[in-house]
Amino acid sequence: MKGMVFTELLSMAEGAIGEDAVDDILDELPLSNGGAYTAVGNYPCSELVSIVVKISEVSGLPINDLQRAFGGWMMERFAAGYPQFFQDKTCALEMLEAIENEVHVEVRKLYPDAELPSFETERTGQGQLRMTYRSDRPLVAFCHGLIESCVAHFGQKADITVQDRTPDGRSEAAFDVVLTG
Ligand code: HEM
Repeated sequence: MKGMVFTELLSMAEGAIGEDAVDDILDELPLSNGGAYTAVGNYPCSELVSIVVKISEVSGLPINDLQRAFGGWMMERFAAGYPQFFQDKTCALEMLEAIENEVHVEVRKLYPDAELPSFETERTGQGQLRMTYRSDRPLVAFCHGLIESCVAHFGQKADITVQDRTPDGRSEAAFDVVLTG
């Protein structure tokens, strides 16, 4: 997983629990490079997950809530860092439909070692999209936060329901996004 995802998680955590608490977490865990992540490096996703588990222990926030909040944080970072992907989209559903065949395709060109999920999308009605997420990584709640924050980014509102169908090993979830305003 790209170092940028780690450095962003740590910035969010520093704001929430403080720099000292984050340093203690990094000292305690057996991390590659002693937890000194750089944005351009590439590190095991299992380390990200173990850091989230520790932040959850320290803050008392459930792991899924943290992952989801982090998804929201990353969406804002993506929107600020890669505005070109957002500019030609008129609504959140159009943006979500473009992730698999446009956005993540470009991400793969920029970072050939990126570990990305796959998405299938289907319009299920007027203002409704079903987005099916599949990944080798356990990041369903992170994805939920990204989707939620994408809707907010376009100034829209939606009901989002999640059916987590994760079998053993591989993550799978269907997100039903129904625009409400
Ligand atoms: C709102 C729509 C988006 C969704 C739902 C989405 C979903 C995801 C998810 C769930 C992951 C984690 C990897 C996994 O679960 O297997 C991921 C990783 C990533 N995405 Fe997206 N993404 C979105 C938009 C973007 C945008 C706009 C960018 C801009 C460049 C981007 C770049 C990346 C990068 C760099 C990674 C990390 C890859 C790695 O660590 O190796 N995504 N995305």
